[in-house]
Amino acid sequence: MGIRTTPTTPFAGQQPGTSGLRKKVTVFQQPGYLENFVQALFDVVHGVGQPATGLTLVLGGDGRFHNRTAIQTILRMAAARGYARVLVGQNSILSTPAVSAVIRRHSASGGIVLSASHNPGGPDGDFGIKYNGTNGGPAPETLTQAVYERTQALGSYTLSDAADIDLGTQGVQQMENTRIEVIDSVADHAAVLRSLFDFDAIRALFARGFRLRYDAMWAVGGPSAKAIIEGELGAPAGTVVHAEPLEDFGGLHPDPNPVYADDLVAHLMAADAPDMGAASDGDADRNMILGRGFIVSPSDSLAVLAAHARKVPGYQGGLAGVARSMPTSTAVDRVAKALSLPCYETPTGWKFFGNLLDAGRITLCGEESYGTGSDHVREKDGLWAVLFWLNLVAVTGQSVEQLVRGLWSEHGRCVYSRHDYDGIATERANALMAELRASLPTLGGTTVAGQAIAWADDFAYTDPVDGSVSQRQGVRVVLADSSRVVFRLSGTGTEGATLRVYLERHEPDASRHDVPAQEALAPLVALAEAVARIAHHTGMNAPTVMT
Ligand code: G1P
Ligand code: ZN
Repeated sequence: MGIRTTPTTPFAGQQPGTSGLRKKVTVFQQPGYLENFVQALFDVVHGVGQPATGLTLVLGGDGRFHNRTAIQTILRMAAARGYARVLVGQNSILSTPAVSAVIRRHSASGGIVLSASHNPGGPDGDFGIKYNGTNGGPAPETLTQAVYERTQALGSYTLSDAADIDLGTQGVQQMENTRIEVIDSVADHAAVLRSLFDFDAIRALFARGFRLRYDAMWAVGGPSAKAIIEGELGAPAGTVVHAEPLEDFGGLHPDPNPVYADDLVAHLMAADAPDMGAASDGDADRNMILGRGFIVSPSDSLAVLAAHARKVPGYQGGLAGVARSMPTSTAVDRVAKALSLPCYETPTGWKFFGNLLDAGRITLCGEESYGTGSDHVREKDGLWAVLFWLNLVAVTGQSVEQLVRGLWSEHGRCVYSRHDYDGIATERANALMAELRASLPTLGGTTVAGQAIAWADDFAYTDPVDGSVSQRQGVRVVLADSSRVVFRLSGTGTEGATLRVYLERHEPDASRHDVPAQEALAPLVALAEAVARIAHHTGMNAPTVMT
């Protein structure tokens, strides 16, 4: 064994986006590409030339193609850096919430998650890397920006030339002076979940014949969902489907929304549908919830959980506050108001919840993009959300649909949809946003597509805990009745640009709660087209994906 320093030159574009650095697998396979990024990360976290003496690193990924190769490289780099200990998931696997749980339970200094979340996998698919800090949460923008700058200045990287670690069996191995512990991929996370929910009540629910279909989408959430839902909670075998993690997710898009989880939707719309449906994504941090013949919007899901949180053991003392990302619907704001809870509006991306959670200002948070979570870890958590819903159904005796309709009847319905325009040439997407931003000063007070715009702006956020400011987080166009359209470009894609258009309209009238969302939102779609000239800029007359 020995530690070798290899000269290198910078790669362009190693800039982390909404959730880490995501690129095509083929980009990550270039010699030195991963090494450069990890070296830059360690240089920023520990200081250039400084060792990681006495520190523990957590390491794991969502099992997608290239995961195992990348893990061995990072282990060699961690050993060269002088980490005291690396906790690595068995077979290289740790879901994103599991990494967060392991960091927190083992007082690690940080962790590396290898994931491209819900993006497709396989040799032609996507790969990603993300650093989480000592609180278990995604690194803040200041750190990711510093890492990017370091990638542009790098001259060498260091790694051990030791043989591969055997990741198939749990136990301790040594590389240089670093103790490599291969750990159970689900145990720590499962222990956290067990401490929050009434497993007896959920067990009794299944014993009464309650039927769930949990679609793990051939991804990393399968084994833990099977162990907990079928194993511990007694749901019948076959409740968790597509449970075996595949390197290419069966060639599918492991994103739990009605478009990509269409098989699950079909099962829940069928005549003999189960009582509840659920799905999680590639790295098991996202979730989708369905009732029989009924799809729950993620924004409503967050609001329902907030409204009923006290009925669940882990939250029986009540919530400190709640937060949602700016484009997420205001349903949770209405619940928070009724419960006199503080409610925060953050930019898109889980990293913005970290400070609020650490400071104890919020307990629950969520995003419209099928992400919900709490202060139990510092990531969104798919299985957590499913257990929360099961616990609520078990103790309230209400169905999924009844719980959502209860929210609507008390607070009105926040009719909501997101329209994505994928694969736009980057210059064209940038031109659209630039034109929209340029129109902002004169948009408020005008009438466009027959609708009076009350105000419009580009969302900026000042973190209430550390005072850091994040500018240009999305253009908001808001009507007098608070209906709104939000525009932003995705920060997680790997090819061209994706325009996201978020549409929300509050409907207080219960007799209109069943009007289909796309119909109720049609005037806002017309407004979006009129203010942003989407067809002109993108050449597309309809979104690629509507959720
Ligand atoms: C998307 C979602 C965002 C989420 C992120 C990571 O980011 O919109 O809410 O936090 O994935 O799962 P985007 O592609 O919009 O930048
Ligand atoms: Zn994910």
